Amino acid sequence: MPRTVCIAIVMLLAATVGQAALPPGVPYPANLGKYYTAYPAPISFLTYLDSIFKCQGEFALCAYATCVTIPKSNPPVAECGCYSFNGPSLGAGTGVLNKQIKANMLSTCLGSVKCTTLLQNRTEFCRRMNDKTMYPRGLATGQADLNPKICRGGTATNCFAAACCRGPPSSRFLPPGTPQYNATCYCPYFTTDQPFFMSSSKYACGPKNAAEIIPGRTLIYNGA
Ligand SMILES: *[C@@H]1O[C@H](CO)[C@@H](O)[C@H](O)[C@H]1NC(C)=O
Ligand SMILES: *[C@@H]1O[C@H](CO)[C@@H](O)[C@H](O)[C@H]1NC(C)=O
Repeated sequence: MPRTVCIAIVMLLAATVGQAALPPGVPYPANLGKYYTAYPAPISFLTYLDSIFKCQGEFALCAYATCVTIPKSNPPVAECGCYSFNGPSLGAGTGVLNKQIKANMLSTCLGSVKCTTLLQNRTEFCRRMNDKTMYPRGLATGQADLNPKICRGGTATNCFAAACCRGPPSSRFLPPGTPQYNATCYCPYFTTDQPFFMSSSKYACGPKNAAEIIPGRTLIYNGA
């Protein structure tokens, strides 16, 4: 039986990756609501700067993700093509999508730099990400704003700390010419009329009216 290993990673730079074949009982994407108990995370990553932590290991980077919304997902989640890397990644307690782990990370990391220094790679999120126990067979993600732009409203994913798997997205909805992604993340998405950052200036800000999103069809990109 194929074993799936997924990882979870953190925010400013990464998401996590796992293996593609899903064993029986793997809850995502359908049951992500069971794990994303802290949904919705705050949109602006500026609110994340007070609880940063650093991990070392496999993670997924979704700054250049192309995503397709998953019909009837709850919370609303998009399947995103991302990249997996091995190395340092950054996350923030504020953006963690699981209530209990978020509370733990905030109590450890809030208002201090120790989660990027003394406790680097040793906090619960990092441990779970490296053990692949952050999500069932899952990776986690972080993301980067390398060449961001400001959107004045729109629809975007927030991939910080999302669950990911190693391997390209299965979506048959991604158009030809989509980059050769090697990680797949299940990222919550939002529609807002408030300003937010888009990971890269080359991406569209997405529909400002949620009714314009065609599930499984409309392409959206990663913001925060
Ligand atoms: C980070 O933690 C993981 C799991 O404990 C370990 O395998 C890895 O070597 C650590 N990395 C560093 C740089 O300490
Ligand atoms: C995933 O793709 C990126 C970009 O091509 C590459 O740099 C990275 O090494 C790949 N990751 C793995 C685990 O092969």
